[in-house]
Amino acid sequence: MKGTARLPSSPVLTKRKSGARVDRHDGASTRAHLLLPDSIRLTKWPYDQSIALLYATDYNTDFSETDVNKAIDVARSMGFRRVRTGALRSRSATVVAHLEFHVIDELELLGVDPRRVAPTGARHRTRRLAARHLTDAATVDLAAFGPLWSHDEASLLRAQSATIVSRSRRVAANGERVCAYAISGLSNGSGYIQRLAVSPPRQRCGHARLLIVDALRWMARTGATRALVNTSVTNEPALALYTSLGFTRLGEYLVVAERELDT
Ligand SMILES: CC(C)(COP(=O)(O)OP(=O)(O)OC[C@H]1O[C@@H](n2cnc3c(N)ncnc32)[C@H](O)[C@@H]1OP(=O)(O)O)[C@@H](O)C(=O)NCCC(=O)NCCS
Repeated sequence: MKGTARLPSSPVLTKRKSGARVDRHDGASTRAHLLLPDSIRLTKWPYDQSIALLYATDYNTDFSETDVNKAIDVARSMGFRRVRTGALRSRSATVVAHLEFHVIDELELLGVDPRRVAPTGARHRTRRLAARHLTDAATVDLAAFGPLWSHDEASLLRAQSATIVSRSRRVAANGERVCAYAISGLSNGSGYIQRLAVSPPRQRCGHARLLIVDALRWMARTGATRALVNTSVTNEPALALYTSLGFTRLGEYLVVAERELDT
């Protein structure tokens, strides 16, 4: 999924007595979790019920062929027609390539020292993105990313719970409660820009710059010395935004891959 690093978790997750981790927001993932090892997850792809999203519970753990094969079986048994991965590092990408997945998007990793970021001097300010704003945030996300790559409310919740600590901010302007939003997070001393979207009619007004500077300053306050983001190699506006803020290309790439399921 574009612009989304996947990391350990989890306000959204509860532990059952058995120890199985269950996502309260999604019946499909609940059933899948009971059948899969703890290291791997399946859930519905936002806005397309025929596609299963496959991702690792811990960003630092690579897929194994055994686990992915198991996930393929479970996805098939649940009636999905395709399995699509989250953003994968090269080792996991190699594993899925052996299992007939093909790459559908390539993402570039960029990084910056958040302590070096200057204030924006912007007119607007950011506000807290609360649970009651998630529907509006999902609407902005859909308009900004389009149906193929956008997040719905459930996947926004997952993005918030992907890091140990999370910060969600919005820009409200022109009578809209959410015309732009960002989800960022911190895990193990690094900051991550998890998601960023600006409503198309409100783009080029400085909202993204404001949100990212806010996120970087928050990361710096917590002592983080590194902030990371990934974005599609074809996403020129996002690449221009991040490089204008001092992010540099790290020469590391992630992929999103998918395969058909013969039913
Ligand atoms: C990328 C995106 C978040 C930028 O939001 P925005 O509010 O329009 O960006 P800003 O107005 O803060 O722009 C800040 C800088 O980014 C760069 N930039 C932003 N949009 C750009 C574009 N379409 N073309 C070239 N550069 C662009 C410019 O350097 C700009 O500074 P300038 O306006 O002074 O030239 C927005 O286009 C968007 O929501 N796109 C779809 C979702 C997405 O790609 N999210 C990020 C995934 S990681």
